[in-house]
Amino acid sequence: MIPESFIQDLLHRVDIVDVVERHVKLKRAGANYAACCPFHSEKTPSFTVSPTKQFYHCFGCGAHGTAIGFLMEYGGMGFVDAVKDLAHQVGMTVPEIRSEAAERAALAGEDLHAVLLQAARFYRAQLKDAPNAIAYLKQRGLSGEIAKRFGIGYAPDAWQALAGAFSDYAAKALPAAGLVKENDEGKRYDIFRNRIMFPIVDVRGNVIGFGGRVLDSGTPAAGGKSADGPKYLNSPETPVFEKGRELYGLYQARRAIREAGRAIVVEGYMDVVALAQHGIEYAVATLGTATTPLHVQKLLRQTEEIVFCFDGDDAGRRAAWRALENSLSQLVDGKQVGFLFLPQGEDPDTYVRKHGKTQFEALLHQALPLSRYFLDSLSQRFDLSAAEGRAGLIHAARPLMKTMPPTTFRMQIVNELARRARLTPQEVEAQCELPSGSLKKRAASPAPSARPAPPAACKRLLRILVNAPSLAKSITAERRGFLKTNADLLPVIALLDAIETSGATSTGGLTEAVRGSSYASLYEEAARDALIGTVSDDTAAAELEGELLRLEKQHVEKEYQELSNRKLNTDAERQRFVDVSRRLAELKGAAAV
Ligand code: GTP
Ligand code: MN
Repeated sequence: MIPESFIQDLLHRVDIVDVVERHVKLKRAGANYAACCPFHSEKTPSFTVSPTKQFYHCFGCGAHGTAIGFLMEYGGMGFVDAVKDLAHQVGMTVPEIRSEAAERAALAGEDLHAVLLQAARFYRAQLKDAPNAIAYLKQRGLSGEIAKRFGIGYAPDAWQALAGAFSDYAAKALPAAGLVKENDEGKRYDIFRNRIMFPIVDVRGNVIGFGGRVLDSGTPAAGGKSADGPKYLNSPETPVFEKGRELYGLYQARRAIREAGRAIVVEGYMDVVALAQHGIEYAVATLGTATTPLHVQKLLRQTEEIVFCFDGDDAGRRAAWRALENSLSQLVDGKQVGFLFLPQGEDPDTYVRKHGKTQFEALLHQALPLSRYFLDSLSQRFDLSAAEGRAGLIHAARPLMKTMPPTTFRMQIVNELARRARLTPQEVEAQCELPSGSLKKRAASPAPSARPAPPAACKRLLRILVNAPSLAKSITAERRGFLKTNADLLPVIALLDAIETSGATSTGGLTEAVRGSSYASLYEEAARDALIGTVSDDTAAAELEGELLRLEKQHVEKEYQELSNRKLNTDAERQRFVDVSRRLAELKGAAAV
């Protein structure tokens, strides 16, 4: 966990305008800045960044958030990574991040990132003195520029070459980083020897592992071994390297993915590098593993469209089907997944080298939409002219349908399955155990959807406080007391608590303080309203006072009625009635002014 106070300090030091400006060209527009929204395509700018509120909002697509949120959305980073990135930019050190992986690494007293970076530098330097490795890369059509872009290196043909890179070859960090192993006699040796080295880099630019390819020019089948071991050797998983999360080339591809509006997922390191060599820079590869939902999620955070590009052989078909299965849970409306099968015997590397960029991109446009691939692959397995086949189709579709979120897209698939199986869509939903009508309820607003719209007073207070959190200080304990007795104002009370505990002073700071709150969507709405109707601090203070007086009057009036309508038994009760009457008179006077 990162302490809340750190997040607030960080947002204080960072200027959201600088952060956004680094990626999006901003134009001054009154108190705010405007641009065409980077999160949806538009011709007139509806993306607004407020320097005073440290907050951005798009009036077109509704995207909004803080500097942290921007990096998460735009850069596809997780929360912790976005915080680290910002902290780095302003020279702050993030205290105590205790992810399980970091924990283990920290316990062992190792900085695996530093070790891996040093190894990557060593391998890169070695490439310069390895004519055979250079010749191999040249023969595969790669330029020095591309080798540099991907940090490609060479692991020398020696058992302990890394002893030349690290002063202490016996350090615990080397095996922990997946760079060296010990034999039965406890003697250490380098895992990567005589291989072309592809550093695997995470989205923050940290080296987290390697893929190493033998130098022979032949291409044994994947997994095929020779005297030199497997064709490709990948780093083992370590505390900093989890294959199901990482994509080779994503760090280098991010910009191009955004510009192209799509990402291609291929199978091999060489495919990514060769595509980049030919000007297709938006390709990434899984790391010798199947595509996971996390991979898909990571990519769909950055772009609307993914095309999986596989070899046309059986292995490619199997990999594609796995990718389909693992994409379904991530398919929200507006996102697209396609499948491209290359001609027998080709992979993206060989294809692009033979036919070039234009033809490869033309192929991409013919990629099979996931829906077609899904429906046709399933249908082909059954004889749909027989009842048995039609039942089999639904039976096979069921586990897949169940993983899909309730979207319009899922409804389309249901309708199509229904047509092919000669059932009604409702029957298909029932057979697949999809809660019928779930789309309407769940897609509209997730989680506790039954919450009624908040009353106007609550909305107004939220808008004022989200707009100017520092006004919270001016609300006296007594007033807080009566606000708390009003169930309609629970979101306001929670907000006041958040302002107090976080010390947030800007809309942006507050947005981070209420991240994950059950009222977060109400607060977001308030932040948007605040951006539309920006008011001065004085006006906001006056508005707040007006609201509080009104609420207090309601509250006091109610108590006055209640006390008037019953017998007052104790001195305390009688005194209370006097106080309440007096306050009510005051409030009526104040309201009249
Ligand atoms: P090139 O022969 O260099 O063009 O490689 P490729 O990218 O065409 O390789 P291939 O299609 O054979 O494999 C695709 C990916 O699978 C590679 O990038 C590796 O991640 C992985 N892979 C291939 N061969 C092996 C192997 O022998 N062992 C392991 N662990 N992974 C492999
Ligand atoms: Mn290949």
